[in-house]
Amino acid sequence: MKSASKAAPTIAIIFGGTGDLAKRKLVPAFYNLFLDGWLPEPFAFIGLGRSDTDDVKYRKHLRDGVEEFSRSGKPTDESWGNFEQSISYLRSNINDPASYQELAEKIHALEEAWGTRANRLFYLSIAPNFIEPVTIHLNNVGIASDVERDRIVVEKPFGHDLETARELNQLLTRTFQESQIYRIDHYLGKETVQNILAFRFANALFEPLWNRNYIEYVQITVAEEVGVEDRGGYYEGSGALRDMIQNHLLQLLCMVAMEPPVTFEAEEIRNRKVDVLQAIKRFTREEVTKNAVRGQYGSGWLKGQQVPGYREEQGVDPKSGTETYAAIKFSLDNWRWKGVPFYLRTGKRMQEKSSSITVQFRPVPHLTFPTSMSESILPNRLIINIQPQMDIRLRFMAKKTGLDMALTPAEMVFDFNRCAEGAQSPEAYETLLLDAMQGDATLFMRSDQVEVAWEVITPILETWESRPSLEFPNYAAGMWGPENAEALIAREGHTWTVTRPH
Ligand code: BG6
Repeated sequence: MKSASKAAPTIAIIFGGTGDLAKRKLVPAFYNLFLDGWLPEPFAFIGLGRSDTDDVKYRKHLRDGVEEFSRSGKPTDESWGNFEQSISYLRSNINDPASYQELAEKIHALEEAWGTRANRLFYLSIAPNFIEPVTIHLNNVGIASDVERDRIVVEKPFGHDLETARELNQLLTRTFQESQIYRIDHYLGKETVQNILAFRFANALFEPLWNRNYIEYVQITVAEEVGVEDRGGYYEGSGALRDMIQNHLLQLLCMVAMEPPVTFEAEEIRNRKVDVLQAIKRFTREEVTKNAVRGQYGSGWLKGQQVPGYREEQGVDPKSGTETYAAIKFSLDNWRWKGVPFYLRTGKRMQEKSSSITVQFRPVPHLTFPTSMSESILPNRLIINIQPQMDIRLRFMAKKTGLDMALTPAEMVFDFNRCAEGAQSPEAYETLLLDAMQGDATLFMRSDQVEVAWEVITPILETWESRPSLEFPNYAAGMWGPENAEALIAREGHTWTVTRPH
């Protein structure tokens, strides 16, 4: 959550510097921060990797990434030329102490040239099993020990289950203070997600209605068109519950359900979110069967193209029991939300990419209008479209134009793009990297947040793992998930909202 001041001189050190994330997300994000004048001065980016490459080739590799993935498009020679000077490559072996010595020398040389002790941002874009050696070696060379100025950014997965998440947290806190650890959930960096806080807490209008008295249910959908792409190996050990629900969707739920924070400070906001996670009712095994639905895509058609089923994807077991879809009905045991279902669903290979939050209000308590008109009266509904559509839509009833008194649903729309007046929204990673450089942890996950989120999904994980599905694959690619997911919500007389681009 950017503040107007620039961060202090910074060195970003990327473990996994030749990986996909650096090329697709991190470097384009740093580059756009540079273009928009947000990058600290001076700034250096050190990519670490095993490949035998040099600064020139490495910079070229990263430029290709910017050309392909940056929201700002192809860089000009001039702006890239200015930016790339900050990039260097260090060939290293994650298990070799000598590599860390070299890194320390490089950092010290930069700082000496700058005449200042820089902030050091260590970014771990590496497989979880490498986190331990990195923290041990960083500790041994003593380059990450300044609690105020050295920070470590950790990518998900934060563990494979509650136990491994706890172990990971313990491992990290052996070397770092909690205040130095920035666990990324990139959903929290999305503009539309941050805007939920503004919408709820900077307006007097909605908060009085934001509770069980006026809201019938809440739906959170994160639908993806893509399959598992080339990540079959990782996804096989993960599945939709671990990959999406434990982190992104539960975080969205927290944004919708949290109590108003007293201040806009990281600890306060994170405390309020932990309260929500703690209030989520834990399922018994029987309740899992009633409240959670899983799915796996079979082959099908998407946008006129035939696509393979999950079990045919590269790196996937042909008899795989991994879920690529999950829909869950959560309830919150607290005063505000008692009795209000929170429906969460996410899936791969669904009909279209669409993430949204629907807040369905209760019907009017008394119908003033005659029955002939009342049929068309729909309860108010608020839809927060997160991506790719970025807007907020409030459905309300209005009079149809004409001499007779007829009613029709109408919409008030806040459109992010129109509001931006031609400016592009920053990517989530721009926001999050800048926050980490500025030392603002509001949009990052604290250790207890991660652990409580695992606690919430543990009964579902355990039940599903102990009872493999006999129905997989149970939805065709290009559909909205398995039929059971419709039944899950229809039981209460509700339906999933499908928001089409307008
Ligand atoms: C990642 C998951 O965290 O989020 C992926 O590991 C998923 O499986 C991705 O595709 C979705 O992110 P976005 O920003 O494209 O909605």
